[in-house]
Amino acid sequence: MNYNDILREGENILKKNNIKNPYLDSELILSRVVDKKREDILLNINNKLKNIDIAKFKNYLLRRLQNEPIAYILGYKYFWKYKFLTNKSVLIPRPDTELIIEETLKNLPKNKSKKILDVGTGSGCIIISLMRERPKCKATAIDISLKAINVAKNNAKLHQLENKINFLNIDIDKYNSNYYDLVISNPPYINSIELNRLDDDIKFHEPKIALSGGSDGFRYIKKVIFKSKTLLKINGKLIIEIGHTQKSQTKKILYENGFYINKISKDLSGNERCITSTKL
Ligand SMILES: C[S@@+](CC[C@H](N)C(=O)[O-])C[C@H]1O[C@@H](n2cnc3c(N)ncnc32)[C@H](O)[C@@H]1O
Repeated sequence: MNYNDILREGENILKKNNIKNPYLDSELILSRVVDKKREDILLNINNKLKNIDIAKFKNYLLRRLQNEPIAYILGYKYFWKYKFLTNKSVLIPRPDTELIIEETLKNLPKNKSKKILDVGTGSGCIIISLMRERPKCKATAIDISLKAINVAKNNAKLHQLENKINFLNIDIDKYNSNYYDLVISNPPYINSIELNRLDDDIKFHEPKIALSGGSDGFRYIKKVIFKSKTLLKINGKLIIEIGHTQKSQTKKILYENGFYINKISKDLSGNERCITSTKL
């Protein structure tokens, strides 16, 4: 069996089982199995596969058929300009979250050493991307999940930032620290009704603790805003990702807690996704 045969077979099986992007997933799985870039697979499409690689391919395909996200099968996902290790302990970094990076960078002048806190760091994709762009900053990242913190630390090592980011396994409720110039967060914000309607890939494979924002979706948005009142310096910025229906209520919570709203930014689909605010 050669690369072309197995790619087609993988595509057909995935397609019959209603998996989105069947050819792409088949190609990504093969690239993982033979440890080659997708371009190299296409250039060597008639290469023969060893029996052990055929068995590995079938095993990964089976995982994909059970709706396991491709980022967990591959073990990585690209976010911003960088590669991040991923496993089932962390939310898979989303393109929409790159908006937080864009907006934060606008508030972080180059060559300045600002203090940043990332609440709910997960894979560490936000804080690591920011530190690659602004290496003079001082960064802390917290998460209630120890397994997530371990993934984030491995990602920091991958990006030679293990000594530059202070990772802490702590609940936001219990974190009291120095004053930060900037707090950033992509908190869990999905309400219980929406949680049940998510695609099986997400619902059955990504960590509930990274998704569920309680019955109304606002449990952690409120916590982050409330805690940021004490964690931020006066005039410090809070930059937070929200769900596409959460703008009005989040604005209200921000006003009630003494924040000025600077900007509400839209994601790639035109949804209001990221709020930049200032502690007055
Ligand atoms: C939506 S995920 C965001 C992950 C990552 N920052 C990203 O954008 O891809 C939310 C993260 O918040 C963490 N988390 C949930 N409750 C928390 C709490 N009470 N204190 C700190 N972190 C919490 C979860 O473990 C999860 O990693």
